[in-house]
Amino acid sequence: HTPARHAIRGSYVTFRADPFAAPAADALVLEEDGLIIMEHGRITHCGPYALVRAHLGENTPLTHYPDCLISAGFIDAHVHYPQISAIASWGEQLLPWLEQYIFPTEAQFASMDVARQTARLFLSELLRNGTTTAAVYCTVHPQSVDAFFEESARLGTRMIAGKVLMDRNCPPNLQDTAQSGYDQSAALIARWHGTGRQLYAVTPRFAITSTPEQLELAGDLLRRTPGLYMQTHLAENLDEIAAVRSLFPHHSSYLDVYAKAGLDGPRAIFGHAIHMSEHDFAHCHHSGCTLVHCPTSNLFLGSGAFRLFDALRPDRPVHVALGTDIGAGTSLSLLATMGEAYKVSLMAGDTRLSAAQALWLATAGAAHALHLHDRIGHIAPGMEADLCVMDPQATPLMAQRSARATTLAERLFTLMVLGDDRAIRATWVNGKVVHTRAEAA
Ligand code: GUN
Ligand code: ZN
Repeated sequence: HTPARHAIRGSYVTFRADPFAAPAADALVLEEDGLIIMEHGRITHCGPYALVRAHLGENTPLTHYPDCLISAGFIDAHVHYPQISAIASWGEQLLPWLEQYIFPTEAQFASMDVARQTARLFLSELLRNGTTTAAVYCTVHPQSVDAFFEESARLGTRMIAGKVLMDRNCPPNLQDTAQSGYDQSAALIARWHGTGRQLYAVTPRFAITSTPEQLELAGDLLRRTPGLYMQTHLAENLDEIAAVRSLFPHHSSYLDVYAKAGLDGPRAIFGHAIHMSEHDFAHCHHSGCTLVHCPTSNLFLGSGAFRLFDALRPDRPVHVALGTDIGAGTSLSLLATMGEAYKVSLMAGDTRLSAAQALWLATAGAAHALHLHDRIGHIAPGMEADLCVMDPQATPLMAQRSARATTLAERLFTLMVLGDDRAIRATWVNGKVVHTRAEAA
């Protein structure tokens, strides 16, 4: 029997403001010797150890993480759990990559056994990488969603997921119909949305694989149940955009296809959004939707460079989060993804992504974008107790670099450029430790 109350001691970082709007020194809070007390899955107290220890009580188990840096758990806003076995598939851009590698992989999820085993591996990999919340695509098979949420519920993680809708331009064994996709989604929503920590996302794969009727019915689902998310792909690849134009010749843009079906609300999550017009960005600003920057995927498929600082332009800021986009992405680590986002920011323009900004995108910024900032993404009393414990000395290379890092920004930058799953010392979910890295031999 594990006690409902736990505490952890160590340095922790969290945000009191958006580092894209405020200087990093004002945005980021560092507690050098901090104490975080958790009870029944929530943070009850946090602050300097010397002050907060008075609230510890007699028998609260205390875990000390000296020389580590604790953050709110990472949020991966775009990832496909069935695609982990198709990671590192050689040689193609988006559309042929889907045909050759992804559709055959996803077809295996007709089997509940495959879905269960993959969901278990995927979620344990997320936790090994310090990721505690993700927006996840399942497959077209409803049982792939049940398998995923069953495992997430067992672990106590807060996850967003949904059944892929696709009723054309894909292999027959992966096709639903507008009506069956609607009915299956409605049943899954009734079963899972708001059950414990699980949240549902209506998930049309992208405009190419859905008829206008299916997109319309996806909009109906969203209008029927408040608080639902919508996730899909947008403007990722030039061949994809040309195909969308020929399938929807009467729409003014790719985004307009989704907007006309009512899929562009404040809980809409669009993956990639690389090839965007100013009009598209302005539309996203006004509708409150979220764009997901997936740098490792965009590099791997040669899709292009997301224009982060354009998306965030202060006169019409658009919500942005980070995604690993496995299996097109090449790492499940948000640290590695932050490091690639930094490199892409140098490729794409003159504004350079800071470490504080990258950490914001992977935690509090994503929580804001997903309207979950009152629950996750920050270390504060009342927040759900999802934490990751980073080890800046995880490897000999990191240890020697971290020894020369004097500022918090430098410590964070070292972690994001050199870090991955090895740099996650431990992960806490819902007030319990769910991953502890085995010590190197
Ligand atoms: N567009 C439509 N489906 C997919 C997918 O599975 N991965 C990526 N990266 N883009 C997509
Ligand atoms: Zn994707």
